Amino acid sequence: MSKKIANLVLVGAGRMGSHHAENVAFKMANANLFGVLDMNLDGAKALAEKLGCEYATDSQEEIANHPDVDGVIIASPARFHASISKYFIEHGKSVFCEKPAGLTLAEIEDVSAAAKKAGVAYQIGFNRRWDRAFADAKAAINAGNIGEPQQLRSLTRDPGPWGGDPFKIPTWTIFYETLIHDFDTLLWLNEGAKVTEVRAMADALVRPDAKGHGHLDVATVTLRFDNGAMAVAEANFCAMYGYDVRAEVLGSKGMVQMGDVRKANMTLFNQNGAEDATWRMDSHIFAEGYTAQIRAFVEAILTGEQTGPNGNDAHRALAVALACIESVQSNQPVATDI
Ligand SMILES: NC(=O)c1ccc[n+]([C@@H]2O[C@H](COP(=O)([O-])OP(=O)(O)OC[C@H]3O[C@@H](n4cnc5c(N)ncnc54)[C@H](O)[C@@H]3O)[C@@H](O)[C@H]2O)c1
Repeated sequence: MSKKIANLVLVGAGRMGSHHAENVAFKMANANLFGVLDMNLDGAKALAEKLGCEYATDSQEEIANHPDVDGVIIASPARFHASISKYFIEHGKSVFCEKPAGLTLAEIEDVSAAAKKAGVAYQIGFNRRWDRAFADAKAAINAGNIGEPQQLRSLTRDPGPWGGDPFKIPTWTIFYETLIHDFDTLLWLNEGAKVTEVRAMADALVRPDAKGHGHLDVATVTLRFDNGAMAVAEANFCAMYGYDVRAEVLGSKGMVQMGDVRKANMTLFNQNGAEDATWRMDSHIFAEGYTAQIRAFVEAILTGEQTGPNGNDAHRALAVALACIESVQSNQPVATDI
């Protein structure tokens, strides 16, 4: 494409979508927030107005057929991701889709095939890859600085007190929506290796009252890779001390650690001892990474070269999540070829 500015439309003007749209509207010289689409038209209008964008709609068809739209950023609830992605891709639009890209392997395969056929970008919102610490760690691993990876870990702890409604959240959300980030991180950091075994345990320790409803809010997963490496992924919906996302890879020659729950390089010392402020919001801890991933999507549209995570990455991370679900249900390890 010889264009210098990509026209993007946000699909899903909720919490995450608003953040993406604000980034496009105010932080990118080579992208324009062309419009906001939400099935709730009032929500679309409110966000568009706030961001100084004139076009708000509740019609997918209108956006898909608009010749000036280059790409869409999909931040609707997960159950709609694959069908909305496919619809826009088949209309020749590039798609950035929040994770998970779909809830079945078949639908992700379907969307990936459509993107290949249409020759458009299809990037998934695995934003940790764009965080500076995670990107530096990956570069160090690729440079051989820690030797062969032997043990990896990745964790996600949402800040407490947890305000979600456990009776409204689908049972396997902790795997589909939370740990999916950790699975992508582990697969990416141990590039080239296949996952041969997955074991998972999960429980409702934050809201035990909702356990009978199928709610799960704490999980620990182990992965075995075919290069011998072992990995642990953990998630917890309620860390009272803050939003905590970290990872580590120990190799034959050294170790890399990434992520820090401390918000700033400042410690307060007083009569109580020493105190560090901690992160409380994903949009704060990953502010830089969220912007960088959308920049990469814009570059993919303008240059035709995609560098960000694609449908294959989404497929692998989802395959691990599905193996976890099987493992929890059977209380057994699951043999995999991922
Ligand atoms: N990468 C991350 O760190 C991260 C963080 C938070 C959320 N997310 C992902 O972002 C997505 C959205 O999460 P959220 O917290 O913003 O949700 P939300 O409920 O705040 O917003 C969803 C929005 O989508 C709209 N919507 C629903 N169905 C739609 C449809 N068919 N077409 C268009 N719009 C539709 C809703 O009206 C709402 O405005 C989820 O997939 C979630 O997993 C990612």
